Amino acid sequence: MSDNTESTTTAGQIDTVMHESRLFPPIGEFVAKARISSLDQYQQLWDEAKESPVDFWAKLAQEELHWFRPFETPLKWEEPHAQWFVGGQTNASYNCLDAHLTTDRRNKAAIIWEGEPGDVRTLTYLQLHREVSKFANALKELGVGKGDVVSIYMPMTPELAIAMLACARIGAVHSVIFAGFSAEAIADRNNDAKAKLQITADGGYRRGKVLPLKETIDAALEKSPTVENCIVLRRTNNNPPMQEGRDHWYHNLMERASSDCPATPLESEDSLFILYTSGSTGKPKGIRHTTAGYNLYVKKTFEWVFDIREEDVYWCTADCGWITGHSYIVYGPLSAGATTMMYEGAPNFPAENRFWELVEKHQVNILYTAPTAIRAFIKWGDHHVEKHDLSSLRLLGTVGEGINPEAWMWYHEKIGGKRCPIVDTWWQTETGGIMMSPLPGAIPTKPGSCTKPLPGILPSIVDEENQPVEVGHGGMLCISHPWPGMLRGIWGDEERYKEQYWSKVPGSYLTGDNARCDDDGYYWIMGRIDDVINVSGHRLSTIEVESALVSHPAVAEAAVVGRPDDLKGQAIAAFVTVTGEASEELRQELRLHVRKEIGALAQPDDIRFAAAVPKTRSGKIMRRLLRDIACGKETAGDTSTLEDYSVLVSLRDEEE
Ligand code: PRX
Repeated sequence: MSDNTESTTTAGQIDTVMHESRLFPPIGEFVAKARISSLDQYQQLWDEAKESPVDFWAKLAQEELHWFRPFETPLKWEEPHAQWFVGGQTNASYNCLDAHLTTDRRNKAAIIWEGEPGDVRTLTYLQLHREVSKFANALKELGVGKGDVVSIYMPMTPELAIAMLACARIGAVHSVIFAGFSAEAIADRNNDAKAKLQITADGGYRRGKVLPLKETIDAALEKSPTVENCIVLRRTNNNPPMQEGRDHWYHNLMERASSDCPATPLESEDSLFILYTSGSTGKPKGIRHTTAGYNLYVKKTFEWVFDIREEDVYWCTADCGWITGHSYIVYGPLSAGATTMMYEGAPNFPAENRFWELVEKHQVNILYTAPTAIRAFIKWGDHHVEKHDLSSLRLLGTVGEGINPEAWMWYHEKIGGKRCPIVDTWWQTETGGIMMSPLPGAIPTKPGSCTKPLPGILPSIVDEENQPVEVGHGGMLCISHPWPGMLRGIWGDEERYKEQYWSKVPGSYLTGDNARCDDDGYYWIMGRIDDVINVSGHRLSTIEVESALVSHPAVAEAAVVGRPDDLKGQAIAAFVTVTGEASEELRQELRLHVRKEIGALAQPDDIRFAAAVPKTRSGKIMRRLLRDIACGKETAGDTSTLEDYSVLVSLRDEEE
């Protein structure tokens, strides 16, 4: 970090203490070949979309999707309900598969898959179409039809994508539940969604062990009275008990299923899927996405942000259990006719070089991963990376949380060999697809910034009185015009939908994140609204203090929260994972380091060394739990999304 100064406070705004001044212009090769290849071109497109977002999206929808029946009204907007492309009929499975079969992509690899044990399968568009059609018929055989909810709890195998696309093909609504959740969490979600059918596997491989998925499902189904049938994929051969009448082997159903299953024409606003995401407190929310708007949005944003080329191997390391997997492993890449790679297992099995081995072996060109993974790679050491030839890579991406500038630099240098642009993509389960990101051929990047909004996206930043904040100051990030990929509701909870996203700032979607916009119009996400720390009247963002800590060479990971303080209102408590030995000297050194990097105001009051910090199963730090620990409180609220409960216990035992 460089040029760090402290700023003054204005009521209701959030102060920034971080000034990152490094700038990386687009790289020659991108500029030469990119779809959008200059800042001017981006600006022109963005301005055109801003002028009339509805016309902009309507034109794209006509061009990009297959319409069984054309739409009449591009947008019906009765706040907070948007309906896009009303009157039209399309099908996401058709757009992902059938649309390519009459083109040169017919025999192109759609999915390249590697299992954790090293088994590899490739499915061409034609083969994937056949598998999906057969499985759609299998679903029909078990009485699944349009509007029925299908719960999917599977390892990262091609059959997971096949199951999603088969549901989409017949208008069934999928609810994918990440294959690490407990029986209790599955049953909650199944009951909330009134799931009719369950799809699972006997097991999945993770870190060399077999996860007994069917066992978990058996326990979940005891408490899921709406589920009538369960389809079981054979993956690990661990012979789980099968319940007569309820359970069916995937391969038996497929053996007798016909491969003729034309995609059902669906209304634009028919539900495509529900995806449960944890709220900051209490019950998980079933985020509902619909067919045409979502499909268009993920296709276009995939093409813009990853600037995909026909010959690329694209690898998103997320799990299909998260929105990133839905939008940028399955629906986005396949509608764009790309080759999407899937990997089943852990990044450190059998060793910490697995990802780099995969990149080299499959000649991956585009890699999209999470900052939490990048920080783990840094901690594991560069030698795992240096063993491999990563020269096939041409573009890198990140998603899920802010990337600390130092982690960004490591990604840029060690993985990207200083030649690959990095797209830091900001978005949410609710937004359906990427909202802000550099376009790699057009927008110079700044480490730690997701740069600019995509065409058709109109962000605004307001203070607590709903007034726009001054340039450079932080406030609540809102989106002021509907966009096709936006959520359409929370399953079965209309009030919560209105209350959470639409009640605070009239006319705008409230993202729940804080952000600031700098003089160049670059956006910097400052964390969740609930995470702001107020030190002596200065409102600070957690990510900035965390980034300062991570910029110290001894620090692998840092999580920062506020705790009550009589004098200052709130004090800063930092949980730090170090690469080497923890010591009192290091604690002092880190305090001084933050003071030097961003100023006395942000110097942590407590620094606790921790072997790990509590994270959600998707890799986000659970600051709510850390706040409880920092205040010496018992943990309240939902811990079902916590990846490893023992982390909490050991943190509680840890004393400064
Ligand atoms: O706080 C933001 C953070 O992740 C939240 C959305 O989480 P989820 O719905 O699980 O979706 C994750 C995958 C899109 C956001 O509200 N977030 C996501 N991407 C970024 C980010 N924060 C900073 N920078 C990002 N690139």
